[in-house]
Amino acid sequence: MTATIEVRELSKSFGSMQAVKGISFTVAEGEMFGLLGPNGAGKTTTVRMLTGLVRPASGSAKVAGFDVQAERQQMLREIGVVFELPALYPRLSVEENLGFALALRGGRRASLEDAIARLGLEEYRHRPVRLLSKGWRQRTMIARALLSHPQVLFLDEPTSGLDPNAVQHLHDVLRSLRAEGVTMLLTTHDMVEAAELCDRVGILSHGELVALDTPARLIEGQQGREVRITWWEDGSLHEAAVPLADAEAPVLLGRVLGQHRVLQIETTGTLDDVYRRLTGGEEA
Ligand SMILES: Nc1ncnc2c1ncn2[C@@H]1O[C@H](COP(=O)(O)OP(=O)(O)O)[C@@H](O)[C@H]1O
Ligand SMILES: [Mg+2]
Repeated sequence: MTATIEVRELSKSFGSMQAVKGISFTVAEGEMFGLLGPNGAGKTTTVRMLTGLVRPASGSAKVAGFDVQAERQQMLREIGVVFELPALYPRLSVEENLGFALALRGGRRASLEDAIARLGLEEYRHRPVRLLSKGWRQRTMIARALLSHPQVLFLDEPTSGLDPNAVQHLHDVLRSLRAEGVTMLLTTHDMVEAAELCDRVGILSHGELVALDTPARLIEGQQGREVRITWWEDGSLHEAAVPLADAEAPVLLGRVLGQHRVLQIETTGTLDDVYRRLTGGEEA
């Protein structure tokens, strides 16, 4: 598969502080890649370098085939960016904000209507952005990023601070974009979100990539995972923790599942456990 994002030994320092320490990874065409890590790990700095906002101290990166520095202008035409910080004009309406962005980029009016429909913004199109809730502002920012039909979309903590319904809606939008082949890089510190959405994740800790794989392989790679099961037997609740590596596990679990009413069953060792082990103690 073609790499749509190629990062080689990318570094950035602020004064004596090394925010990003020579990280390398690739994101394949159409892939949804999650950059995870606690506050201060270097996620935003990485996204800023990949979107041409900050000059790397060393290393290189290509996005959609263009060098993020040497071919910055061509690269910018292929990407959409959604940052944490509000970048909308608060007094302008949703439609005016999008229209302004469209005028700057020279897009077609149909793109604006598509973006409004895709994000479900019809009802709010004439409302000033300052009167919108965070969830609707976020939708407006995503609509704006989609105006140019980008091949690659960068989203920095797109769901932080949103309520569960808004998060669900955003996930649906991202999944539909993935189905259309848009390559995405998103940052998050929500491991449930990362495990659900991302094809692969990279975990950043103090500016270094400490893991890079699919969520499934990171979860499976953990030692000592167990199945915790709770069931009704003779009128009372029973609990057991069965190591997944135990040769007897299928027999034990089969007996409970086959003969009793199960209340709850779960496996320990989530992506959150992987994350906490690798970034342990860091601010989150
Ligand atoms: N413009 C800047 N000037 C000085 N330090 C910065 C600047 N931007 C980021 N940093 C520092 O770089 C580190 C990484 O920050 P950032 O990339 O924002 O992390 P994250 O997005 O993972 O929370 C932090 O220690 C932060 O304080
Ligand atoms: Mg950040």
